Amino acid sequence: MILDPDRLPILETERLRLTPLAAADAGRLFPIMGDPEVMAYWDIAEVDDPDIVAAIVQAQVADMAAGRAIYWSMRTLADGVFLGSCDLSEIDGWNRRAEVGFMLGRDAWGQGYALEAMRSVVAFAAAAGLRKLAARTHLGNLRSEALLEKLGFVKEGLLRGHILKDGERRDCRVFGLLL
Ligand SMILES: CC(C)(COP(=O)(O)OP(=O)(O)OC[C@H]1O[C@@H](n2cnc3c(N)ncnc32)[C@H](O)[C@@H]1OP(=O)(O)O)[C@@H](O)C(=O)NCCC(=O)NCCS
Repeated sequence: MILDPDRLPILETERLRLTPLAAADAGRLFPIMGDPEVMAYWDIAEVDDPDIVAAIVQAQVADMAAGRAIYWSMRTLADGVFLGSCDLSEIDGWNRRAEVGFMLGRDAWGQGYALEAMRSVVAFAAAAGLRKLAARTHLGNLRSEALLEKLGFVKEGLLRGHILKDGERRDCRVFGLLL
């Protein structure tokens, strides 16, 4: 996959518009990343400092400029409400693979938005020449597992004690999808 950082893709679905994440989106992501329920199965705990979210978004924008990832902000097509973000990261052009990620504010859960967004991200990845997608979930993240399985991902393995969070080691599950 050759990613042109000057021509990052905008994706549209029936109900959603996905546009490349911008620094200005940090303020919209802050309340989402500050929610302990959203962050329960994330590698880091909820964030209570807007500067940290701004630094995370800045790093993501830099990753896009370097051609290593695409992060999209997710908005409703009808009224432009910001719902969250999703991404292709760790893009490995040689092996034609990448990792997927997704995060929605809690108000947006349970409406099929993540599935709709990720279907278009998977289709984009396939059209761009990627042949393998991976995802890593913390054990117990049942909503994410259900979403990945609806997208056709299968369980590939278990990473024991992979993440250190709140003083405890957490196991992670690896999911994969061959395109
Ligand atoms: C993971 C996450 C994005 C999943 O969100 P979600 O809304 O559950 O996912 P989906 O888009 O697949 O929606 C499925 C739900 O929408 C419902 N739904 C309603 N309308 C729908 C429609 N038109 N199409 C499909 N599903 C629909 C389904 O019945 C299902 O509801 P249920 O969970 O009550 O059974 C969300 O839980 C999240 O942001 N979690 C925190 C961040 C996180 O852990 N990210 C992943 C790290 S690996």
